[in-house]
Amino acid sequence: MDRPRFAGQVVMITGAAGGFGAAAARRFAAEGAKLLLSDMDMDGLDAVCQELDHDFHFIAQNIDVTNESDLTSHIEYGISALGPLDIAINNAGIGQILSPLHGIAEAEFDRIMAVNAKGVFLGMKHQLPGMIARQKGVILNVASAAGLVGAGQLAAYAASKHAVIGLTRSAADEVARFSIRVNALCPSFAPTPLFNEMADALGDRHGIDRETAYDRVTGRIPMRRVATVDEVVQAMLWACDPANSFMTGQAIAIDGGLTAV
Ligand SMILES: NC(=O)c1ccc[n+]([C@@H]2O[C@H](COP(=O)([O-])OP(=O)(O)OC[C@H]3O[C@@H](n4cnc5c(N)ncnc54)[C@H](O)[C@@H]3O)[C@@H](O)[C@H]2O)c1
Repeated sequence: MDRPRFAGQVVMITGAAGGFGAAAARRFAAEGAKLLLSDMDMDGLDAVCQELDHDFHFIAQNIDVTNESDLTSHIEYGISALGPLDIAINNAGIGQILSPLHGIAEAEFDRIMAVNAKGVFLGMKHQLPGMIARQKGVILNVASAAGLVGAGQLAAYAASKHAVIGLTRSAADEVARFSIRVNALCPSFAPTPLFNEMADALGDRHGIDRETAYDRVTGRIPMRRVATVDEVVQAMLWACDPANSFMTGQAIAIDGGLTAV
């Protein structure tokens, strides 16, 4: 039988209680990885851990990605228990209440930038030194199609995801010579709790139900549907695959063609 492609690799995933993060944890576990999982939502993270095979090596901790000391102690503990990080997926993120730019409260802008942009910055800041020392590693930051193009009613969210892509490309430039790959994934829409909340907010605003709100969204996508969570997660695995060894500094759209037209 073939050896699983991530056998024995240590994979860190933030936001692992949520849609993409939880699904990625299950997939990487099935492919033989050792997991360092975190989220602010400890109940959600416990539920994900219950599903994982307990013969399996994983650590799950309650951290806030906007807090540098949470991240440093999480990474130090993970490395001491599981071994050096081979792969890090900075996935934790929050959405935005739909609003024109002039209606966004300063505190909401700050919070979105803190979780989505600073969280990725802090993650990479503390993931990279160990990878540089080993001259080896892969980082995947979860951005968004809203990191590639503007998104009306979502200016703060789009700004935070553009920042993720800027951080990704800059870090990729800095560490490519150490054979470390850094990429960003840019999904459009997939039915996770984050997206459902935004679809419900769109529905409330226009007096329509979630299904009709979904139709409004999918009408703008050339493939006329949202992604499945698994389609996004398969792209995560492909981006991190050891065989995908020459791709770095890229912002990869998984968006049914949304940003192509
Ligand atoms: N679902 C989509 O349609 C979509 C599209 C594009 C990009 N994304 C991005 O994908 C990533 C995952 O989102 P999702 O859709 O799975 O959403 P989700 O809400 O299901 O998961 C996000 C997880 O991040 C956690 N989190 C939030 N703030 C945190 C913090 N400060 N510290 C630690 N954990 C925190 C949440 O508790 C949650 O479990 C996010 O970065 C999101 O912006 C999602």
